[in-house]
Amino acid sequence: MNDSDPMNLRDFEAVAMTSIGRMAFDYYAGGADDEITLFENTAAWGRARLLYRVLADVADRTVGCTVLGHELSMPVMAAPTAFHRMAHDEGELATVRATTGAGTAMILSSLSTVDVEDVLAAASGPVFFQLYLYKDREISRELIERVTAAGCAAIILTVDAPLLGNRERDEQNGFALPDGISIRNLTARGPLACDSDGGSGLAKFVRDHQDPGLRWEHLEWLRSITNLPIVLKGICRRDDAVRAFDAGASGIVVSNHGGRQLDTSPPTFEVLPGICEAVAGRGEVWVDGGIRRGTDVIKALACGATATLIGRPILWGLAADGQAGVERVWRIMAEELDLAMALAGCRNVGEITRDLVQLPGEDPRA
Ligand code: FNR
Ligand code: LAC
Repeated sequence: MNDSDPMNLRDFEAVAMTSIGRMAFDYYAGGADDEITLFENTAAWGRARLLYRVLADVADRTVGCTVLGHELSMPVMAAPTAFHRMAHDEGELATVRATTGAGTAMILSSLSTVDVEDVLAAASGPVFFQLYLYKDREISRELIERVTAAGCAAIILTVDAPLLGNRERDEQNGFALPDGISIRNLTARGPLACDSDGGSGLAKFVRDHQDPGLRWEHLEWLRSITNLPIVLKGICRRDDAVRAFDAGASGIVVSNHGGRQLDTSPPTFEVLPGICEAVAGRGEVWVDGGIRRGTDVIKALACGATATLIGRPILWGLAADGQAGVERVWRIMAEELDLAMALAGCRNVGEITRDLVQLPGEDPRA
């Protein structure tokens, strides 16, 4: 191993910084306003304590799990992130090969820079489609038909972005997609550009194309035009979580968009336990935001999450070394999780129970 080889998911960020340009790096790394939520997302996982069990015979272990009926190699999936071709020429193709090759699922962003059909053709496991609803419902309907025909196995509707958060790095850099890279999937009617008008071209793009008028009633419409499971991404409150299941969602993602939308919204780990209690097993609860270690994944599952997602580490792996970089990210995550489960006394995800975690200010439950 070289001195500069990344040892863990965080190490990849420094490598990525030297492999891609400033505009792309800032877009991937940045958050909204003062980036308080961005920072806190990661910090929150470190504040909880793991009360490991001893003499639990962990000789035979598995980190496998089931998500929406799909058997995955680990309870960690690729979060939907936009514009992978800014990190590496193969873009989403490299990501899907590495991710499904590692036995887990990829959530493909609406803002993919590779056609959904090509991504699915390169996949060897489940791909879910992250949806932003377009102002023109007919275009959204065509898009859903397109991604369903391509083979996507679920719709992940992102609900925390009626407008884009205030990302000052992108405003300053005049963020725009470089020549030769375009948004391939937002509509079924052909690729779209993302040009700067001086400030963030993406903020302008979202203002122009996405619908800030979404309401709960639109979920009924969405359910009427697709049989795929629908998961709502971007929930931070118990009442919204309950309402999502009342409205027929199969799952939710407790997420604040990686600190990129409303700054000072709570770190996801702080709200996760309350949300899991409130929804009491009515469906799947996924969580993302600052998950970087196997121990973070154990804490999420102990508090009731079905699975977790990682966003930026995938982009850093991609920028560092394309498909091989993302493969390494998955290898590290699987190894860390396996070791952490062994040390915590868990042979499988079913044994990751609430008493393993002591939250800040809480008495130990074991
Ligand atoms: C995102 N995220 C995101 N979410 C979404 O629903 N659709 C999208 O297109 C994107 N695009 C996107 C781009 C980039 C560069 C980042 C960093 C994030 C949010 C993403 O799915 C996820 O919620 C966070 O990235 C999770 O936090 P971590 O793991 O990056 O800390
Ligand atoms: C982002 C959008 C595209 O976070 O979701 O950049």
